[in-house]
Amino acid sequence: MNEKQRKEQSQIKQSNPADIKSDQDNLNRLKDKTSDDFIKYFEATYEPPNLRKAQKRGKQDVKYHDNFEIDEQFKGLGTGRKYLIRTYGCQMNEHDTEVMSGILEEMGYEATTNQKEADIILLNTCAIRENAENKVFGEIGHLKPLKVENPDLIIGVCGCMSQEESVVNRILEKHHQVDLIFGTHNIHRLPQLVENAHLSKERVVEVWSKEGDVIENLPKRRQGNIKAWVNIMYGCDKFCTYCIVPYTRGKERSRRPEDIIQEVRHLAAQGYKEVTLLGQNVNAYGKDFDDIEFGLGDLMDEIRKIDIPRVRFTTSHPRDFDDRLIEVLAKGGNLMPYIHLPVQSGNSNVLKLMGRKYTREQYLELVGKIKEAIPNASFTTDIIVGFPNETEEQFEDTLSLYDEVGFEGAYTFIFSPRDGTPAAKFNDKISMDEKKERLQRLNKKVNTLSAEAMKKYEGETVKVLVEGESKNNPDVLAGYTEHSKLVNFTGPRTAIGQIVEVKITEAKTWTLDGVMVEESVEVS
Ligand code: SAH
Ligand code: SF4
Ligand code: F3S
Repeated sequence: MNEKQRKEQSQIKQSNPADIKSDQDNLNRLKDKTSDDFIKYFEATYEPPNLRKAQKRGKQDVKYHDNFEIDEQFKGLGTGRKYLIRTYGCQMNEHDTEVMSGILEEMGYEATTNQKEADIILLNTCAIRENAENKVFGEIGHLKPLKVENPDLIIGVCGCMSQEESVVNRILEKHHQVDLIFGTHNIHRLPQLVENAHLSKERVVEVWSKEGDVIENLPKRRQGNIKAWVNIMYGCDKFCTYCIVPYTRGKERSRRPEDIIQEVRHLAAQGYKEVTLLGQNVNAYGKDFDDIEFGLGDLMDEIRKIDIPRVRFTTSHPRDFDDRLIEVLAKGGNLMPYIHLPVQSGNSNVLKLMGRKYTREQYLELVGKIKEAIPNASFTTDIIVGFPNETEEQFEDTLSLYDEVGFEGAYTFIFSPRDGTPAAKFNDKISMDEKKERLQRLNKKVNTLSAEAMKKYEGETVKVLVEGESKNNPDVLAGYTEHSKLVNFTGPRTAIGQIVEVKITEAKTWTLDGVMVEESVEVS
């Protein structure tokens, strides 16, 4: 099928929530067909990333559903069966896994960590960089023998990779052990999809390229009872030129404030000690409302009044970090003085090519404003090195910006071209060796500044939310400070789940060691 035909077909039959019934009929008709038929079906219903079209996506399509319920007919389907979900990528995916686990458990499935005893294995995938995708393809390969041993096993691929046409085609053509593929907008359809996969024993593919719905009351099986994630918005409309997320997650849709506040209140009542408000571009919250003026600052101002000791949010985009938000964060209390503020590059020309919509100077000005309002604020960031044709001088601007801000940590990446994004089409003269060398230089700086930031804590007493035993030593407890520093310390197990005071005895590059201050259990 050529590009023109595909476009015409996808206009005629674009898969979306409204015509799911006919999608389902089509799928049923496809039972007993070959991979080729599925590929044809997928090509007819899928739209590849298209910047111009995606940027035009309208507001009016967002629908709110507050009545998610699992139909009785699906409730016993999982009885006596076990599920396992492997999660890749960001917190958004981690949280989606909590929702899918919740749905599967309401269907009667039980969680397992042993893949040999699982009846359904889902890979919740990430498409952000090529190596993220390679990991998943590796894992799909590893699962093949399990399927041979247990032909009833359902293997599913979901998450961001399944929103990509090339990935779905590759799976359909080459990885016949995969029974089920569904996209990021189809999670609430899990009961139907799983039933379909069980009954038909044929491959089930459901990927909606058109998003738009916000669905409330989804069940959740949260990981742990101390910290919780709360989605406040979905999608991203920023279209940074290198990034696949606006295509895999769709347009920005905010949850209604009352739904979020109710969820946070509920978590507080259940005894959770920390919530992190989640969104790909979290401070664009509320921009899509046309009936109320209500942004992230307003939301935080409400949430800070809820009796939950710690509130965080991620990820911020510098462009949307407004004065109202800074003013509210400055009120402190349960709003933590730690901000992850991805900069990506310290050079204004590179930022322009990245489509970040701010300059080096504007970023520094924003940081200055935040530091002035919140003097104890600490910052971490994300940086991409080796963006196409980045010069040595431009890279050095990133190094100098790192010093100027005084970042205390960073996630650093080599640019990875993503199919369908504008930057993937840029010619690039910089060799991979050069990019790797820059990444090393940057990482050296990241480590040095982190170690310096940690050193300042030696001899200080900090508040730590204790999450459990340290990974390597059960006699040592571990938790995070208000500034999100990991602390390993000696103390009683009764401190787990509490905020306690810890005196720092030694700083390492990425962690702190300490001793709990006696009788500090229950401080907050
Ligand atoms: N929404 C967040 C984070 C998105 S993904 C934000 O805008 O800040 C997390 C990080 O992955 C990004 O901040 C960026 O540094 C990196 N990233 C995204 N696309 C990439 C690509 N194509 N190649 C390399 N790194 C990428
Ligand atoms: Fe991607 Fe973040 Fe840019 Fe959105 S704001 S396009 S998620 S890097
Ligand atoms: Fe990856 Fe999707 Fe998150 S691409 S970073 S899992 S939004």
